[in-house]
Amino acid sequence: MSAAAASVLLCADADAKATAAQQLSALWKNGSVVKIGYARPPDRPARPDKPELRAPRDMPKRGKAGSETGRIALLHALAHIELNAIDLACDIIARFAGLELPSAYFDDWVKVASEEGLHFSLLSKRLKELGSCYGQHPGHDGLWEAAQETGHDLLARLAIVPLVLEARGLDVTPTMIKNLRKAGDIQSAEILERIYIDEIGHVAIGQRWFQHLCAEEGLEPEETWQGLVKKHFKGSLKPPFNDEARQLAGVPISYYTPAT
Ligand SMILES: [Fe+2]
Ligand SMILES: [Fe+2]
Repeated sequence: MSAAAASVLLCADADAKATAAQQLSALWKNGSVVKIGYARPPDRPARPDKPELRAPRDMPKRGKAGSETGRIALLHALAHIELNAIDLACDIIARFAGLELPSAYFDDWVKVASEEGLHFSLLSKRLKELGSCYGQHPGHDGLWEAAQETGHDLLARLAIVPLVLEARGLDVTPTMIKNLRKAGDIQSAEILERIYIDEIGHVAIGQRWFQHLCAEEGLEPEETWQGLVKKHFKGSLKPPFNDEARQLAGVPISYYTPAT
């Protein structure tokens, strides 16, 4: 399993990476891959030549929210995030495979990898329908930083990737869906609705394994999470938070809005 996940990270073509992530799940479910094994994943995943990767400050403005240019820029940015999410899911499988984790851990993250692959494919297809394609705009180069920052520690990885970054996605997606519907782009809105539901599940999986590891190590989850965020996350947690979605994912309000 670790070798199969590492091979997704090593796949440079974006559409092929998305397909490989979905196949990973099929191989795991049908029993073609049963051993976890250990294959060291690359420090940086292979990526296509395009999009050109730029520092966050050099990213162009997206254009007006409802305009076609603005919608294409938004869908492109989301496709780029999903491509990173495929790599992150495969990395959490491969990198920590030596830790003797229960097989339910691999069931969960293989499911996440597969869904991220589907999300990328849906967005890539939609971009083509709108006369664009993934790679046509620059991409944000800061997205792999969280993986590098937490590559040494699964607890830190869980604290930051699903429980800060993916949870942030839950906060901002409903407004994006509303704006797409307002602009009459129902197909794109429906793709984001699908992604939103799946992402609640990804945050829930992150929280489940974060709590599992805390229980194993005798740590208090809430304080541990807050300490890890302080140490490994450079930005600040930005309200407004989507309390409803976060609670559906099993993350209590007290985690991210501690009493002062
Ligand atoms: Fe996703
Ligand atoms: Fe996700």
